[in-house]
Amino acid sequence: MSSLVVLGLQWGDEGKGKVVDYLSKDFDIVVRFQGGNNAGHTVKIGDDTHKFRLLPSGAIRGKRVVIGNGVVLDPQTLTDEIVELRKADIKIDLLISNRAHVITPYHIKIDELQELEKGDTKIGTTRRGIGPTYSNKIDRIGLRVADFLGDSLETVDQFQEIILAKIQRLFEIGNMDAINDDFERYISLVRSLKPFVGDTGEYLRDSVQRGDRILYEGAQGTLLDIDHGSYPFVTSSNCSIGGVSTGTGVPPSQIGEVLGVVKAYTTRVGAGPFPTEIEDSIESTIRTRGKEFGTVTGRPRRCGWLDLVALRYAVVLNDAKFLALTKLDVLSGIGPLKVCTRYESDGIEISSIPANAIEYDRVHPVYEELDGWDLPKGDSWNGILKTGLESLPENLIEYLRKIESFTRTEVKLISVGPRREETMVLDEKWLDSS
Ligand code: GDP
Ligand code: IMO
Ligand code: MG
Repeated sequence: MSSLVVLGLQWGDEGKGKVVDYLSKDFDIVVRFQGGNNAGHTVKIGDDTHKFRLLPSGAIRGKRVVIGNGVVLDPQTLTDEIVELRKADIKIDLLISNRAHVITPYHIKIDELQELEKGDTKIGTTRRGIGPTYSNKIDRIGLRVADFLGDSLETVDQFQEIILAKIQRLFEIGNMDAINDDFERYISLVRSLKPFVGDTGEYLRDSVQRGDRILYEGAQGTLLDIDHGSYPFVTSSNCSIGGVSTGTGVPPSQIGEVLGVVKAYTTRVGAGPFPTEIEDSIESTIRTRGKEFGTVTGRPRRCGWLDLVALRYAVVLNDAKFLALTKLDVLSGIGPLKVCTRYESDGIEISSIPANAIEYDRVHPVYEELDGWDLPKGDSWNGILKTGLESLPENLIEYLRKIESFTRTEVKLISVGPRREETMVLDEKWLDSS
């Protein structure tokens, strides 16, 4: 396979970082195409943990990594990540799109103020300025990387003037004086990234022609997609398949197959509909065992049963050909396990996800129960991971088959722990043959 897209199929934090790190050994280039540092992708190798926010997770293997035009870029976060990798003696081969929009301190402030203004109806954003930056992009008043590197922004005063003229919203909802950032420092931070900046669209299109293998790393998850997710409780980008082409400049016909990443249960950070949210002590058991606290904000993640209705929606929307199933170890010892196979509202079956958040909030999940399993702890895993699916507990295989038959998609990879080694590829040939 020349290219592969890795997408989250739930509400984010499915384990995309781990899967991308694992697979990137077989690819030449790893690309982020949407979102910003609202993403937190964790890669664990042995006892070392790396948390990526903007850099694609393939960076750890020293792969060429690309930040596409669809990403919104926080220069401080990116600089910190580069410094951290350098400290760890990891080679950085990075290309940043000159068309990517830049998050400024103003956008972060607006994000905070908008959330405060919403009060009880707040979305629970990561407060990283993501929404306001995408808003300005769509309003055609954004600042792109190229704007900082050309002649149009020569002085700090010019920068402030442009921003002040553009972001009127801040005057309406808050106090501009609250921002005391050192703009000189901010501009030079963006400019210091210049050696990495280029036309990533052209580069990627050429790479496709050369036959390079490209791995596209999604951020967030399908149900957080601005168009197809649980609007308005979503992020501000297209984190499903449509975002790959617009966020990179590679034509859809050249993008390749989709691998969807699915957590064995469901989590959600922030507000919004969540039909399978668990309301008894099992929730905290799952949260504790799965360490379900936000990578970016440290907030506890809401935990629920696997929602097959939402999963099937995401599989079909993205035309996911393969699945990676993560965190199976977390469910070990819990039983019976519930999976949601239908939604009902006022006794009427709802076949898919309602477009309206109030209606979505009202649906009741209808569950099927499956027997649980016990997994060995510690190193006894290693043997099992090498011997194949048959050596896994029968009930775990049943769970996996249930997901496959409901979504009509094959699970190609399973994950039973955070570390790179705790991964089992169920069909070694799929990467070559598809
Ligand atoms: P992402 O945003 O989709 O990349 O996911 P995150 O990194 O935000 O969250 C997934 C969390 O689960 C991280 O802390 C991972 O280290 C961890 N993780 C990934 N796969 C597994 C797994 O199979 N089992 C366990 N126990 N943890 C996992
Ligand atoms: P990764 O890539 C989980 C959620 C926020 C909030 C909503 C909008 O690690 O899976 P935003 O700051 O984007 O405007 O917040 O989206 N959210 C995520 N939830 N994982 C993520 O990224 C997320 N990125 C944003 O919690 O509900
Ligand atoms: Mg995450």
